[in-house]
Amino acid sequence: MPDTLIWFEHEEVMNMAEEKKIRRIGILTSGGDAPGMNAVIRAVTRTSIANGIEVLGILHGYAGLIANDFKVLTARDVDGLLMKGGTILYTARCEEMFDPEYRQRAADNCRFLGIDGLVCCGGDGTFRGAQELSRLGVPCICVSGTIDNDIPCTDYTIGFDTACNTAITAIDKLRDTMQSHARCSVVEVMGRHHGHLALAVGASVGAAAILVPEDPGNFEQDVVEKIRTGRINGRNHHIIIVAEGYHMSCQQVADKIVEETGVDTRITILGHVQRGGSPTSQDRVMAIKMGCAAVEALMAGKAQRVIVLRDNKIIDIDIEEGLQCQKDLDRNLLEQCRRMSI
Ligand code: F6P
Repeated sequence: MPDTLIWFEHEEVMNMAEEKKIRRIGILTSGGDAPGMNAVIRAVTRTSIANGIEVLGILHGYAGLIANDFKVLTARDVDGLLMKGGTILYTARCEEMFDPEYRQRAADNCRFLGIDGLVCCGGDGTFRGAQELSRLGVPCICVSGTIDNDIPCTDYTIGFDTACNTAITAIDKLRDTMQSHARCSVVEVMGRHHGHLALAVGASVGAAAILVPEDPGNFEQDVVEKIRTGRINGRNHHIIIVAEGYHMSCQQVADKIVEETGVDTRITILGHVQRGGSPTSQDRVMAIKMGCAAVEALMAGKAQRVIVLRDNKIIDIDIEEGLQCQKDLDRNLLEQCRRMSI
């Protein structure tokens, strides 16, 4: 027998395999909530339990990890969650995660609770928290849940489609009253610093103009002229979509329209209504795919990964790499919408 070979007794080998085995998974939702987060909790819980893994639901995001605030999740606890908006685990933006002392406490609590892997669902702030915990030895897998679709490493974030549809339903109703009064409606859509949501919503409602931070365009040409020529061509009402990250507020846009065109104008800030409601089929299916993939990644011994959608495929990539990606707005769609606004 070559002396480079190390022989282990069967029991030792079994112990090593046991050591690698995932016995308990933690799941948390963090940052702004998004429709479909509950469906992720369901997918993670059911997939884990089906594989003999226990699940701890961490309450209030990373704050719950720091404060040891959790509950055991059973298969029955997640019944009826596919269609439920919000997150049953609650969510929070946790400032303490910027402090190394609290981060260490969160990692120590994971060890204390016997958590072999943690699934973190949220936006880029959530990913940064997971990256820090991974560095402290907690295997973390991220799933992107945000209505903004602004996570650069993935083509899609859970909640986006539902938020688009919520905004579209509201704006279709606005159109009725704007038409009746021959008015202009300036509607603010969420999206933080990005215009992905505003663009998708604006395109879907046939807005006269879509104002986004990534491409401020020319106000005179893209808004004022569109309204003027629209009126000349027989259009009696106009919908202008403004992303919340645009450099002018909804009110400033409306004031300028009145000043330049004299058209009676009203503003609507859709706000947090966009974050609620039952997820669409797309968000439910995506939550199932990404939630299951997160558990499978942990079972395969992976850590510090993000589950992403790329070219219609669900894959996992390193969090570090994911945070460095860039994602541009669909400028082609914006240009097409601008050209069609006549
Ligand atoms: O990230 C989701 C989001 O809804 C953004 O679109 C918005 O800017 C922000 O969260 C609002 O955050 P809060 O709920 O803390 O007001």
